Amino acid sequence: MNELVKKAREARACSYSPYSRFGVGAAIRAKSGKVYLGCNVENCSYGLTVCAERVAVCNAVSDGARDFEALAIFTEAEDLTPPCGACRQVLSEFSKDLTIILANPGGKKELRLSELLPLPFNKHTF
Ligand code: THU
Repeated sequence: MNELVKKAREARACSYSPYSRFGVGAAIRAKSGKVYLGCNVENCSYGLTVCAERVAVCNAVSDGARDFEALAIFTEAEDLTPPCGACRQVLSEFSKDLTIILANPGGKKELRLSELLPLPFNKHTF
């Protein structure tokens, strides 16, 4: 299994998801080579839930990393789990064209952020 996917699977083990019971793990690799992990963190006030991808990005940015190469997302779902729209937008803040690896126990698929979010709202718009 790809190293980044392994890390995303490890991150999923920390998922706090008692409401959806849908654990998500993410691992993002900075250009420095350092890898940051995230898991989804739910809340009894459902709308306060934070996705695994955004937790990983916040972990990275709060360590001074802003340039990313690749992100892996691991779930146990039968179908590979793509990042939600909010996470795509947050990822686009820091990386124009990130490699995104969707993975589950059955396999993986590699995509580009530009495929998932072809027309992002970006800081050059205003
Ligand atoms: N979730 C993520 O962690 N990432 C996504 O991109 C989509 C959804 C989480 C949020 C919630 O804890 C659970 O999956 C079900 O929506």
